[in-house]
Amino acid sequence: MVISGGRPLSGTVRAAGAKNAALPAIFASLLTSEPLLLTRVPRLRDVETALELVQSLGKEVHWRGEELEIREQAPPSPVAPEAPVRRMRASFLVLGPLLARLGRARVPHPGGCAIGPRPVDLHLEGLAALGGEIQARQGWVEARTAGLVGRTVYLDFPSVGATEQLLLAGALARGETVILNPAREPEVVDLSRLLSAMGAEVVWGEDRVVIRGRKELAGAHWEVIPDRIEAGTYLLAGAITGGRVRACGVVPRHLAALLVKFDQAGLEVEVGEDWVEVAASGRARGVHLETGPYPGFPTDLQPPMVSFLAVAEGESSVTERVFASRFGHVGELMRMGARMRLQGATLLIDGVEELTPARVRAPDIRAGAALVLAALAARGTSEIEGTEHLARGYQGLPEKLRALGAEVELCRTNCR
Ligand code: EPZ
Repeated sequence: MVISGGRPLSGTVRAAGAKNAALPAIFASLLTSEPLLLTRVPRLRDVETALELVQSLGKEVHWRGEELEIREQAPPSPVAPEAPVRRMRASFLVLGPLLARLGRARVPHPGGCAIGPRPVDLHLEGLAALGGEIQARQGWVEARTAGLVGRTVYLDFPSVGATEQLLLAGALARGETVILNPAREPEVVDLSRLLSAMGAEVVWGEDRVVIRGRKELAGAHWEVIPDRIEAGTYLLAGAITGGRVRACGVVPRHLAALLVKFDQAGLEVEVGEDWVEVAASGRARGVHLETGPYPGFPTDLQPPMVSFLAVAEGESSVTERVFASRFGHVGELMRMGARMRLQGATLLIDGVEELTPARVRAPDIRAGAALVLAALAARGTSEIEGTEHLARGYQGLPEKLRALGAEVELCRTNCR
């Protein structure tokens, strides 16, 4: 992607459906033989991967614009193919539904990835507590059960994936599954609502979520929630370029942690019923933040936020509390003139007045977004390699940026 930066972005951008809500919703289709109709589904590489996976397990899929219908073509297979799971960790979420529905499942171990080791121990301990006999061998997880039974499971960390895995499995388990210390990200809550629409009973409490399973679940018609991470990224693109961007079709409270930091940084923030507008006049001030489980500052917005803070006045600090090594963007930002250094899990940032254009490489989705933002701010032409990562998480990124006034070109081969 070639970006000629240095111009303030302004205008309105509509948020796509949330990738991280669409993916578990697609896997929820494995819980039922009835059709599942999902609307506001983002057209993304990760969504394609999820569809490839459910198709290989016996589903057929039909797109109509942003509407996706998933129907059962043949009884599901209990064995997940290796390629999609290796390409996308979220694919591991098929384990719970297959085990709950078929009594057995064989799924490749997803392994680590660019943002850290990312174990699945909480998923496996949880499924074992519900009566799954789990064995991990030769890179595969094999699970069997004579029938899952609801139990109380405590999560050491409010893991998004583990909570989703247990909600999916619990929806077809006998009795009540109680998850203590669950993740409360909007995408998790969205999945729980979809499962309710399919017939399970879900009740959220202060410290728990309780799901009462059904012997069989029905199909449903479901609209995916807006992508708060995508919306936040465009707001940051406006902010870093000294412009004014409105994200519409969002749930503003999902963006609360980011908006508080914008306010502290001295930006103008306006909030409507389903939109948020952020404007920068002059240079923003540095801020201090820690990522954390929702409603904490989202780790998925940490990389683009770091780019924004790289050019904010004074000192900032960003502590990453969710993933072990999610600072792949830092070295590349430093090549663009950013002044920052890592101290354990904390990144100390000394804001510079300007970034300089460079050729950089995106190591993962959100680090890629961070580099796009830095390139939009740097006066001159930057080249970002590794844009396949961006296609995993941002629908129509070049088009949406262009609509805000950015000069962006996506090249299939080297642009030069
Ligand atoms: C989800 O990943 C998201 N992915 C991530 O978005 C997001 O960054 C993350 O939640 C946190 O919000 C999807 O929803 C598809 P976790 P997930 O389980 O479920 C540790 C993006 O860019 N952990 O909450 O994998 C884990 O190692 C992606 O869109 C265990 O130790 O996140 C990590 O340090 C990246 N054992 C922490 O918990 C486990 O069994 C949080 O992981 C599970 C997790």
